[in-house]
Parts: sequence; C-alpha cells; structure tokens
Amino acid sequence: MRSAAIAFIVLLPSAVIAADTPPGWAFLSRTPGVDTGPEDKAPRHRPGSDKTYTQTQIDDIFNPPDWYPGEHPAMPVLVAHGKQPVVHGCAQCHLTTGRGHPESANLAALPAGYIEEQLADFRNGSRTSSNPANSIMITFAKALTDDEVKPAAEYFASIKPEVWTKVVETVDVPKSYVGEGNMRFAFPGTAKEPLGRRIIELPSEEIGAKSRDPHSPFIAYVPVGSIKAGESLVTTGGGGKTIQCTICHGADLRGLGNVPGLAGRSAIYLFRQLYDIQHGARKGNSVALMQPVVAKLTQDDMIDLAAYMASRQAGS
Ligand code: HEC
Ligand code: HEC
Repeated sequence: MRSAAIAFIVLLPSAVIAADTPPGWAFLSRTPGVDTGPEDKAPRHRPGSDKTYTQTQIDDIFNPPDWYPGEHPAMPVLVAHGKQPVVHGCAQCHLTTGRGHPESANLAALPAGYIEEQLADFRNGSRTSSNPANSIMITFAKALTDDEVKPAAEYFASIKPEVWTKVVETVDVPKSYVGEGNMRFAFPGTAKEPLGRRIIELPSEEIGAKSRDPHSPFIAYVPVGSIKAGESLVTTGGGGKTIQCTICHGADLRGLGNVPGLAGRSAIYLFRQLYDIQHGARKGNSVALMQPVVAKLTQDDMIDLAAYMASRQAGS
C-alpha cells in the first residue's frame, strides 16, 4: 500500500510534464501556407530618420539598419556587424537600442554581468529552450569568447529602458500569423478571434517591425483579469504557490545587482523563460534561485505573471 502510494507520487509529475507541450503562441515558428505577397523592393524611409534602406538591406545579417545613429552610444563592432561568418550583428534581432522584438529578447538596461553570464550559459549547454528554434543564441555564443561578448554586454547595459510593450487586456484579438523571421503579424482586415488563455504580441505598426525600427513598439494582448492575478502572485507569493519576486528582482521589478529586471519587457519572452526554467531547459547556476519560484506554477499562472511584469513601467 505504502509503496503503491509512493509510486503514484513519483509518477505523477512526469505524467503532467509529458502532457504539457510548449505552447505555439509563445514558442513562435512560422505559420505554414500564408501567402504574404511579393517583397516590397522600394527604398524605405521612417519618420524622424534621414536614412533609406530597402528590405534586402534591412535583412543584411552583418549590416542591420541603424535608423537613428544619434540616439544611441557608438555601437561595438559585434553589435553593429557581428563576427563573420557565423555571428550576426546583435542589432539585427535586438535592435540598435537592445529593445528587441517578442521573438527575441529585450536587452536594454540588463546588467552587463547578467548578459555575459547568459552567453556563457548558451555556450556551455545550460541554456537551451523548450523549442529549439528559440536557441539561435547557442550558435552565436559558441563562436564568441567572453572577451568578445563584454563590449556588447556593456553597450546594452548602458541603454536606458523605456516603455516598449503596451499591455492590453482583451477577449478578442486580431487574427494573426507568424511570418518571416518568426515575427507575428495581424492578417490584413479586421477579422478577430478569441484570445483564450494565450498572450498574442503584435507590432504597433507592421512595416515598423519589418523595418527593424527601434521607434516601433509592440502591443501584448493578454486575458482579461490577468494583470491583477499576476500582481497578487508577484506581491504575495500566492499563499506559498511561489515566492515574492521583488525580493530578488528589486522593488518595481527593475533588477537588483546581477538579477535581471522584468518590468516592461515582452510578455511572451517572460512567459517563455518561466516555462523554460520550469522544464529544465534553462539550468545555469543562478537559475537554481528560480527553481522554487516556478515549481508549482501552472501555465495560467505564468500567463498572469508575464502580463503583470510586462505591464509594469521600466525605468530608472
Ligand atoms: C538572429 C536573431 C538574433 C541575433 C542576431 C542575436 N540574438 Fe540574442 N536572442 C535571440 C533570441 C531568439 C533570444 C531569445 C531566446 C528565448 O526566447 O529563449 C535571444 C536572447 C538573448 C539574450 C538573453 C536575454 C535575457 O534576458 O536572458 C542575450 C543576453 C542575448 N540574446 C544577447 C545577444 C548578443 C550579445 C548578440 C550579438 C552577439 C545577439 N544576442 C544576437 C536572437 C538573436
Ligand atoms: C530567490 C531569488 C529570486 C526570486 C524570489 C525570483 N527570481 Fe526570477 N530570477 C532570479 C535570478 C538569479 C534570475 C537569473 C537567472 C540566470 O542568471 O540565468 C532570474 C531570472 C528570471 C527570469 C528570466 C529573465 C530573463 O531576462 O530571461 C524571469 C522571467 C523571472 N526570473 C521571473 C520571476 C518571477 C515572476 C518571480 C516571482 C514570482 C521571480 N522571478 C522570483 C532570482 C529570483
């Protein structure tokens, strides 16, 4: 009787995890069969920039666009141009300002030591992702030394945070697909679908995202009531379900020492990290501190937490 009870307890967690596949709305991969028409080949301009780039130039992995060179410090070579033949310029995905897109990550104002540690974790196998498509960073990290990463880490750490993700609670969300570069876009027109228990992040302006314009922010659509539910978990720990986040991530969730800030970052990025940490895909040394935080969380809790964190204002 006793051993049967123990067997039941031991088997239960693995059964739960096996049924729990990484949700496609968070771990983005291209939606098959969507015809997005011919590529726009015209020279493109952006408001407030005197630069001109075609889409082909924008997509140059070793020369990503720099629409507003006067707005950021001089970029280290690695950020602007990468390291041929393997490492793309970091600005391609994280933008010149480090704010990034929902399919990558917001690096602006993260502690430099934390960024360096993440590159080491990607390199040594302790940071993967529940969806291998999210692990392009492993390829880059393996082609870089700690010394090469340092100037890029210091660059992104030096950039002031600003509001980049607007969080909107909603029942219905524009119908959307995942296109080129794993970016999510709304279908043309006004068709909507139920959001359900998902987070859908869309660019405020499609052409701005395609242009990799660091003035073109994102809207995270989250379930109604999720921000308040997340706030309760963050501030009280949910009666032992998790641990109050501010103890380690700082008051206002803006980071503390080498612990990264969470306020105002992409909601689906934050969800992916909670999911990856819970499922053991992220297991670097410092992640041990997060283990008791995520152990008992359901996917719904993670949605609520991500909605609340993203809705908090980043800033210093
Ligand atoms: C081709 C796109 C791409 C490029 C170029 C790129 N990254 Fe990333 N980066 C990603 C993606 C995707 C993720 C997030 C993976 C995930 O969701 O788990 C990421 C995540 C990160 C993170 C983790 C952030 C955090 O909060 O833990 C760091 C640090 C990072 N990148 C640094 C860099 C640096 C430095 C460079 C330039 C050498 C770079 N990246 C170039 C796509 C890219
Ligand atoms: C005991 C300390 C501690 C507590 C409490 C804690 N965290 Fe963390 N958290 C960390 C550390 C340390 C890291 C960085 C791990 C690493 O270096 O890879 C982290 C990383 C994260 C990340 C990944 C950030 C990124 O940039 O990829 C998220 C998301 C996160 N925590 C959310 C939370 C939430 C939500 C709570 C509260 C419910 C919480 N944390 C409570 C210590 C903590």
